Amino acid sequence: MALRSTVFRLSVTASRFTKRYASTASVQASNLPDGVKDAIKKETSLPNPDPPSDSQTARLVNDQLGYMVPTYVRPMPMFHKAEGCYMWDVENRKYLDFTAGIAVNSLGHCDPEMAKLMYQQASTLIHTSNLYHNPWTGSLSKLLVEKTIEAGGMHTASKVFICNSGSEANESAIKFARKVGKTIDESGAKHELVSFQNSFHGRTMGSLSATPNPKYQKPFSPMLPGFKYGKYNDIAGIESLVTDKTCGVIIEPIQGEGGVNVASEEFLIALAKRCRKVGAVLIYDEIQCGLGRTGQLWAHAALPKEAHPDIISTAKALGNGFPIGATIVNDWVASKIVTGDHGTTFGGNPLATRLAHNIVGRLADAKLQKAVLEKEQLFRKHFARIQQRFPEIVSGIRGRGLILGLQLTADPSPVITAARERGLLVITCGTNTLRFVPPLIISEVEIEEGMAILEEAMAVVFKEPEAVKGTKGQQEMS
Ligand SMILES: Cc1ncc(COP(=O)(O)O)c(C=O)c1O
Repeated sequence: MALRSTVFRLSVTASRFTKRYASTASVQASNLPDGVKDAIKKETSLPNPDPPSDSQTARLVNDQLGYMVPTYVRPMPMFHKAEGCYMWDVENRKYLDFTAGIAVNSLGHCDPEMAKLMYQQASTLIHTSNLYHNPWTGSLSKLLVEKTIEAGGMHTASKVFICNSGSEANESAIKFARKVGKTIDESGAKHELVSFQNSFHGRTMGSLSATPNPKYQKPFSPMLPGFKYGKYNDIAGIESLVTDKTCGVIIEPIQGEGGVNVASEEFLIALAKRCRKVGAVLIYDEIQCGLGRTGQLWAHAALPKEAHPDIISTAKALGNGFPIGATIVNDWVASKIVTGDHGTTFGGNPLATRLAHNIVGRLADAKLQKAVLEKEQLFRKHFARIQQRFPEIVSGIRGRGLILGLQLTADPSPVITAARERGLLVITCGTNTLRFVPPLIISEVEIEEGMAILEEAMAVVFKEPEAVKGTKGQQEMS
């Protein structure tokens, strides 16, 4: 600790009086121990080295950590403000954000229009409970239905249930599917739910039961009865998977957490046909891939009508950081739900729904969506160059719009650390995949800036592995 303090003081002094990258020559020539020299070199040559254990940040973190249920492992920087595509830590260091809070802040951080509306609505009406009408729950529901149909997605969209998170939107969808099954077959035999390997649908018991990842399920087993798991994009497996006993099938048109895997059009058409045949509700979980992220309002919007779902679940970007989720259903599903079947205290409150009403209108904008596709091309151009430079490391590029994955053949954790210490936030998913889900408003200049940092981080990690010290484990992403 004492040595660490000395190193920190020395490095602060060095970085105060010398320009970045120019400070280490005299240190290298000194008779300081090698470990101290290395630490100084790192802290003076990186714009955002992770705060050391005797920093102000570490003191703050350690003061608080003991009071938090340890569900996440977080790197040391502590963020206290953000604007657009940038975030600042408590030591006032700036980071470019390619994560958007896991595909949430699509309109950027602290959007001024949203801040203004939030103030206005918070000074007018925040919460009434769902026992009374307010102007915004219904307005948002109407807008979601209209924009969905207008965008070419789920042409039968008709009604919306508004809640507070992605898990809750899926929980509602699962319950609705069970209710449809029970209405069709009163014996209760039609209760099975189907989901797919590598999917992520949430952490509540229903949504977790649809998430066949042993890491998430095992600590809380047994899961709910009646859940079956199939292979993503396996058309041949559909018939035995989805049967007369199936009440619902839930699938992400693009798997986010599972590795940015895109469902093929043929697979979704075949799945939808099978659902119609056996009378099962088809649920598209668009929580991560929806709301403009693919350059269309919904990732499935370009599919032919025969592949459209009966339910869409959405959340994340719906509130641009304010908690809200929604379950969009068609008349077939809605007709099976009666008063008292389902509910929520906070869901659909006027504050959240007024914000989401503004956000949906802006994310549905054709100009924004066209720009998303242009930005995708810029990312892809850089990915191709990086792949050329690291052909053994980059084995694939996946995704659509601004939900993109760079498949590596090695553990990406050191790249995440090296990028963060150079001022870029990026996350992982699946197995060894780097995930790119930046704010949709990101500029070309910001993309260039981030890709230059990423390339440097890759070079440091894969050309000089000793030059970067990885943090232990990366945070759970969802
Ligand atoms: C596709 C998908 N579904 C559901 C969820 C769960 O959403 P939430 O964390 O808001 O409960 C997530 C979160 O990452 C997700 O990506």
